[in-house]
Amino acid sequence: MLKKKKTKTKISTNLINDEKILDLSNDQDYSKLEEAGSIIRNGGLVIFPTETVYGLGTNGLDGEAVKKIFIAKGRKPDNPLILHICDIEMLGKIAKNISDVEFKLMNSFWPGPFTIILEKTDIVPSTVTGGLDTVAVRMPNNEIARNLIKYSEVPIAAPSANISGKPSGTALSDIYKELSYQVDYMIDGGNSLIGLESTVVRVIDGIPHILRPGKITPEEIKNVAGNVIIDSSVLGKIENNKKVLSPGMKYKHYATNAKCVLVYNKDISKTKNKIIELTNQCLKDSKKPLILCLDSELDYFKNQYRGKVNFICLGDSLESISQNLFSSLRKIDEFKPDLAIIQGVDSEGIGLAIMNRLLRACQYNLYS
Ligand code: TXA
Ligand code: MG
Repeated sequence: MLKKKKTKTKISTNLINDEKILDLSNDQDYSKLEEAGSIIRNGGLVIFPTETVYGLGTNGLDGEAVKKIFIAKGRKPDNPLILHICDIEMLGKIAKNISDVEFKLMNSFWPGPFTIILEKTDIVPSTVTGGLDTVAVRMPNNEIARNLIKYSEVPIAAPSANISGKPSGTALSDIYKELSYQVDYMIDGGNSLIGLESTVVRVIDGIPHILRPGKITPEEIKNVAGNVIIDSSVLGKIENNKKVLSPGMKYKHYATNAKCVLVYNKDISKTKNKIIELTNQCLKDSKKPLILCLDSELDYFKNQYRGKVNFICLGDSLESISQNLFSSLRKIDEFKPDLAIIQGVDSEGIGLAIMNRLLRACQYNLYS
């Protein structure tokens, strides 16, 4: 008999009766987005899916509406938001003096998980940009997001849909509890395809600087622009009072209640030994460890501890690790561990974005 294939898609059964939810996870009738579009245009708050993570959106040209986002998330007002657009016509309204390199990057990576910092026009409220004279712009690839912007008829200001400091949301069921009571409407688009927020780039003197790594890698950007600089804050800790190119880098991110540590060495046997050492130390001190490891290492660790330790599988490829990362971080506290020990990955390609998020989740506690 054929075994039914297991699917990882979460069905939001506990959310089904909520009248504020439009379920488009298996439905391509985007005309249903008209109502959500008019809520956005009129300054309401809508949670919506994108290919990276879920967004918490409103009318990006309405300064008062935008303030509601900062209140709902508990976000510091100097941490600016991304404006999401659905076509190049919208870009002309919100950004000016765009250079050839900037156009080249947009042409190459839009629609997609790529955000660019541009000089803003006067119609962009200062609440969106945290008082800066630049604005972050992204044209998402997700059809629900693009149609929502189209029906809204305005650029949508949207940060990741999560309480500030918590992991971003990659499934509506993950963020429902923390945000649903604060919003006017929610759109369920299933699990986010990529799972990590967009690559954020600012071009300075013709050279793209990566302020936040994502699915679009430094190599891809270099191939288009001929050059790329990875900002020092991507893998390094930000010193107090240091001026940063992107205000979001200063703040705590992806935090769990449990203390987390990251373990990575290019030599996998050294990584495994360090994880074992940290786990044994916990057990010796009568503390409860939790191991988050790649699928390929699960059997090895399980054999060591035979039921004495809990595990979370991060995935088997960089793509699946990205997709699972935020829900894995959210799962940590369900186990109430004293220490979560997380296996890292190589910082190449999209691995750079994974390590950037993990370092922050672990507050830079890295063992190698
Ligand atoms: O994939 C994404 O980018 C998701 C989805 C919803 O589009 N959005 C997202 O937004 O991650 P948020 O607000 O969580 O992160 C935006 C980042 C922050 O680190 C912020 O500081 C930075 O972009 N940013 C926004 N405007 C900026 C500006 N004018 N200059 C420098 N950094 C800026
Ligand atoms: Mg965020």
